[in-house]
Amino acid sequence: MKIFRSISEIQEYRKSLKGSIGFVPTMGALHNGHLSLIRKSIDNNDFTIVSIFINPTQFLPGEDLDKYPKREAADIKICELAKVDAIFMPIKEDMYSAIEPKILAPSQKAYILEGFKRPGHFDGVLQIVLKLFNIINPTRAYFGKKDAQQLYLIKDMVQSLFLHVELIPCEIVRENDGLALSSRNIYLNKEERTKALNISKALKMASKAMMKGEFQSIAIKNIIRKTMQGLYIEYIGIVDRDFNKIDKIELNNSIILLAAKVGNTRLIDNLWI
Ligand code: PAF
Repeated sequence: MKIFRSISEIQEYRKSLKGSIGFVPTMGALHNGHLSLIRKSIDNNDFTIVSIFINPTQFLPGEDLDKYPKREAADIKICELAKVDAIFMPIKEDMYSAIEPKILAPSQKAYILEGFKRPGHFDGVLQIVLKLFNIINPTRAYFGKKDAQQLYLIKDMVQSLFLHVELIPCEIVRENDGLALSSRNIYLNKEERTKALNISKALKMASKAMMKGEFQSIAIKNIIRKTMQGLYIEYIGIVDRDFNKIDKIELNNSIILLAAKVGNTRLIDNLWI
């Protein structure tokens, strides 16, 4: 497995590859969720490249940029065992110029829900993802459905800017008890982890209610709110797949999105209906 820190060297390597390239962009601290994207990419492409870069522009002042988990040696081992072809771990200074053109995520979709709580976050995400796509020039790029709003905005960017990459959305991976995998789960102590289970439990309760015929967003939100008692709820959103808020859930066209703080740790989860 090759490891590149230099942009020009990975571009040279990329040029030498003949065949399809699967790309898995990450911020490191790899877990089984990332591994599921990596495996999918390996199964469906001739080569797989993983990027590991904690992108500063998607963190807001006061967020966990400085303490975001760094597990370089473990990440390299995981990629090696998974048979990734190359890792790209760029240096921050090489990724940004002093006077950058700004990428602005469409405000009506990027400043609701996650973006309401983290204004500007998606501008930073799109900026880095566009740079990574331009450097790697992948055939396919793999993103988890857990970051549903991110996935939607990247899809919109790919369509709007006519980028030549196929996006592959990948299912959320959970622990046996339902907790959605996240690099931030390692911040949770035992008690917080138990409390955090109420997030996925709330989505299960919503699912049960829908099976009994309840599709009104208000009613579903109430059920979720009750189940999440004791957690600091940041938002409960019910949207269609184009991220328009909806009053009534439609099968095969809706997403329920949750964000909550457990202690100091901010977690998100969602259910695609
Ligand atoms: O989902 C993530 O890990 C990040 O937002 C991404 C896509 C790697 C961009 O920094």
